[in-house]
Formats: sequence, C-alpha cells, structure tokens
Amino acid sequence: MQLLDGKKTAEDIKGEIAAEVQKIKDNGGKVPHLAAVIVGNDGASLTYVGSKVKACERVGFESTLVKLPSTTTEIELLNKIKELNENDDIDGFIVQLPLPEQIDEQKVLMAVDPSKDVDGFHPENFGKMALDMSTFIPATPFGILELLERYGVETKGKHTVVIGRSHIVGRPMSILMGRKGFPGNSTVTLTHSYTKNIEEITIQADIIITALGVPNYLKADMVKDGVVVIDVGITRVPDDSNAKGYVITGDVDFENVSKKSSFITPVPGGVGPMTIAMLLKNTLLAREMRIARKN
Ligand code: GUN
Repeated sequence: MQLLDGKKTAEDIKGEIAAEVQKIKDNGGKVPHLAAVIVGNDGASLTYVGSKVKACERVGFESTLVKLPSTTTEIELLNKIKELNENDDIDGFIVQLPLPEQIDEQKVLMAVDPSKDVDGFHPENFGKMALDMSTFIPATPFGILELLERYGVETKGKHTVVIGRSHIVGRPMSILMGRKGFPGNSTVTLTHSYTKNIEEITIQADIIITALGVPNYLKADMVKDGVVVIDVGITRVPDDSNAKGYVITGDVDFENVSKKSSFITPVPGGVGPMTIAMLLKNTLLAREMRIARKN
C-alpha cells in the first residue's frame, strides 16, 4: 500500500507557486490576489476559509477575506460580488459554500464573473470543463487529478466508481475521469443515494472516489484487492478525548481498507490540503489570463 500524501504534495505545489510569485516580483509585476467571501459563522467553513487565506500568505499572494453576518440578504451578497467582479486589483475570488438558506446558491454562483471564478463553479466554466476546453477546474477534483498524476496512478481503461454526485466533487470528478488523456480514459460509474446494491459496484472498482460525508462508510468487504481509494470525506466527529472536541473523519474505514489498497489517501492529510493548493494554482492562472486579455 502506498499513501497518496496530499500534505506533502500540496507543500511541493505551494513551493512551485511561491517560486512563480518570486519571479513575478523580480520582474516588478503585480502578485496574484485572491478574495474569499464567507457568510455566517459555521466553524468548519471558517476554518477552511482561514486555511485558504493562510495559504495565500505562504506563497506570497495578496488575499482579502470578506466576512458577512449570517443575516446577510441575497441582494447584499450579490452587491458584494459585483464589487469584487469590478475590483481590478482582484484576480479571483470564491464564495464559500454552503450559504445560509435565505440565499439562492445558484444565483450567487451565476453572478461571479467567469474570468474570476477560481472555484470553477460558474456554468460557463463547468460547461467548458465538460467539453475539454481550457478553464478553471474545481479545486477538489483538480487536486485529486494532480495526486493521481504525480503518483503515476494508472487510470486508462480502469473502472472508476465515484460515490456522491455533489456539484463540487462527485459530478465534476465523474466527468474528468472519463475525459481523454491522463488522468482520465476511465470507465466511470457515478453512484448516489438511489443506487441499488452499491457494494456490488464498489467491489468491481479499480479506483474509488468517495465524497459522501458519512464517516467510515466504505468498508474492506466493499472493495477488491489492489484498489485505489480517494477519500474526500471530512466530517467532524465528536470526540471528548481530543482537545478540539472532535476528530476529522473520512468516508473510508482506513485501517481495514488500506490493507487491500494499492494507493490510498489519508484523512486528514490527503485531498484536503490539495484543494487549497489547487485553488492557489487557479488564482495564478486567473492572473495570467487577465494579463493576456489586457495585452
Ligand atoms: N465548500 C466546500 N468545498 C468548497 C469549495 O471547494 N469551494 C467553496 N467555495 N465552498 C466549498
């Protein structure tokens, strides 16, 4: 079994990005600027956004954190997005999900200027991704592709089973793994809450990507020997013995599934850090595209 070490790989990528930023600085250029909008006080979301801002500092990006109260109206948020769209200093921005229930998520994602949509959630960018056109790939799927590529995990002709059809992970992942090229050229099965006898499908999988949010869902008897397992789950499970009062737990029963795996991501330290690294990569790309458009 080989660990797909997202923590180390993300550090490598951040080192590469930091070197690019240094080159920009040496040439007297403007460093990339990422903004993140968060609405409300959800602890996990605040932690994720905080990590994104901290990562900007680490690579030499400028960053702006926009914190709005949970009572923010849809109009107020749309006005803030308009401001960020028009702010020439900002190369890219994200609106952290989920949003409070008074706000229509789809309206918000549609309001983001596609050229600044470093999450890749705007329908224009999502459509381009599905059509193999150059665009922003959503950070978590992008991070998974990067891990598979850097570890040389074979995907061609393999059966990839994706568990969960969220717009952020499962759905884009199912498209990307079936694309022409590497990583890709897989035969993909997208499973979800209405899938029957899922264990009969997972047992046939060469690669399993699980983004369900159910702790320890994938058990050893659901997978075959030599399987590649990518665990996107990051659920906070209450644990009084831990100083934080919780432990971050993945979708995979790691202890037992890892014994049958050829490659597997740990939680934490797998996909999570990769998501942040790829968001930075998308921001660097957004800056390059802006400069190309201006010239
Ligand atoms: N919530 C969970 N994952 C993500 C993500 O990748 N981007 C945003 N904006 N919100 C999220």
